[in-house]
Amino acid sequence: MQVINAIDLEKNFQNTNAIKKISFSIKSGKITGLVGPDGAGKTTLIRMLTGLLTPSFGKLNVLGYQMPNTSSEFLKQIGYMPQKFGLYEDLSVYENLELYGNLQGVENLFLRIEELLDFTSLKKFKDRLAGNLSGGMKQKLGLACALIKKPKLLLLDEPGVGVDPISRIELWQMVQELLKEDIAVVWSTSYLDEADICDEVILLNEGTCLYQGTPQVLREKMKNRVFLVSGEFYKKREALTTILEQDEILDAVLVGSKIRINLQKNKLLKKDIYYSLGKDIKIEPINPIFEDAFVDILNEKTQAHSKLVRNMKNVEPSDKKLIEAKNLTKKFGDFIATDNIDFEIGQGEIFGFLGPNGAGKSTTFKMLCGLLTPTFGTAKVLGEDLYNSKSTIRNSIGYMAQKFSLYGNLNIKDNLEFFSGIYGLKGKKRKEKIEEMIEIFDFKNYLQTNTDSLPLGIKQRLSLACSVMHEPKVLFLDEPTSGVDPITRKEFWTHINSLVKKGVSIMVTTHFMDEAEYCDKIMLIYKGKAIANGTPDELKNLVGSQVSMQETFISLIKQYDKEEK
Ligand SMILES: Nc1ncnc2c1ncn2[C@@H]1O[C@H](COP(=O)(O)OP(=O)(O)OP(=O)(O)O)[C@@H](O)[C@H]1O
Ligand SMILES: [Mg+2]
Repeated sequence: MQVINAIDLEKNFQNTNAIKKISFSIKSGKITGLVGPDGAGKTTLIRMLTGLLTPSFGKLNVLGYQMPNTSSEFLKQIGYMPQKFGLYEDLSVYENLELYGNLQGVENLFLRIEELLDFTSLKKFKDRLAGNLSGGMKQKLGLACALIKKPKLLLLDEPGVGVDPISRIELWQMVQELLKEDIAVVWSTSYLDEADICDEVILLNEGTCLYQGTPQVLREKMKNRVFLVSGEFYKKREALTTILEQDEILDAVLVGSKIRINLQKNKLLKKDIYYSLGKDIKIEPINPIFEDAFVDILNEKTQAHSKLVRNMKNVEPSDKKLIEAKNLTKKFGDFIATDNIDFEIGQGEIFGFLGPNGAGKSTTFKMLCGLLTPTFGTAKVLGEDLYNSKSTIRNSIGYMAQKFSLYGNLNIKDNLEFFSGIYGLKGKKRKEKIEEMIEIFDFKNYLQTNTDSLPLGIKQRLSLACSVMHEPKVLFLDEPTSGVDPITRKEFWTHINSLVKKGVSIMVTTHFMDEAEYCDKIMLIYKGKAIANGTPDELKNLVGSQVSMQETFISLIKQYDKEEK
């Protein structure tokens, strides 16, 4: 049954046409995916569907009501999880659910809360303050609050941001369950593997609708244009750059030791170039995924080179261990967040630190960066313990925190000024670097906006800019691409790849398993412990041949749970 119908819908703000005359319909019993890059208009559209925003022109009917409508009768039927869900940080998990439940007059609230705590695996943490939850656990609690009263229309604005692969699948399954009750779900997402399994997708770009239909139809358009290049590359990252330099290539990504390529429309593959990149090179056609179609429809060629490193010198070779954790342990009361972790990271390496929500990743990052003291063991960077070290070492390190350390009431330029000062940039160099960051990350339209009101993707770009502008030798990236659109994610990885080619050492965490494939080494941590480690291919081989990183991640975690029981 059709529950939403929009005809020539428009939304204009002071200086922007956020939504430009779009028409679409949404049915119940289905999940409709809303995809598109930053600024496409996804959040504006969702807000109009909730009745919070008034359309400028056109017609919008939601659940039989003409929009805008904010009657309680209408609102009762809507479940809405905004990007920034308003949790009460000083209330416990349970109290948050209780509060939302009471506000909405939910009957048998106790049972509903138990159900939701089970689903989100938050039962064990029900008494923990929401403010002390890991990033992903907060998202899950937000969703649980939005579901407290079973709605007729569920609007989810990027619910998967910062959520681990296992929880995202669980989230998906729970929403699938809701469909049986004939609920309509609108799911905005930057995870294109999620878009691929939606019943329908609406693809927005700059306020216009580029496509509405099934993901399959869109994917089919890429048939015979996607290939896997395998073999023994002489230098994997150089090979990737060479491939991306080719005119006929639209996109190329590392998949462990292989490279997946995506050909421009009506172009032929110039195979000789690929054969020169290594020994025993093979090129085989493979099935397209939604991401291929997405890149194609937006016609965004992935850049081979990052402007970030154009003036950067190579990091001088060093035989020191760049990053080293030994028996690293952190306890919060009786709870062990990081449990006896050991690893070393060499120069010019990308070390992927993966794990489910609450595994202890951010806690470990913070100890390495000298923001938390270890309860036991040591964390050293460039041979020094940062907690006690002099500020000179700190200038060689960049840290992009999971939660913004930006100053929300300052604008972009002020933040760049402030962080360049902290990292010891001075005079002409400082001025040049700030201008360079504005150009590279395309901040010019946002310079006067307070960072608090920036879209999530832009905030992440600013955080990245602030952590790299002083040309650090060692870079810590705690979920750099969370909340970043698929095209910008590719840009981020072009930067990261170029930095390691210059000799920078990078420790990174992500919940996007395709990004894990870019790492040289991966450590999988769970419940504070390291449960597996190796190259992406080695990890996959632990689980089976032909498995994806996502399947590997899930399988290794589940296996650990089984053995622990
Ligand atoms: N100050 C604190 N007091 C109590 N518990 C804490 C504190 N900081 C973190 N924790 C707990 O430590 C565990 C690990 O948190 P951490 O933020 O390191 O997880 P994470 O692996 O980064 O997760 P995510 O993927 O969700 O970001 C979580 O259970 C979290 O609730
Ligand atoms: Mg974290």
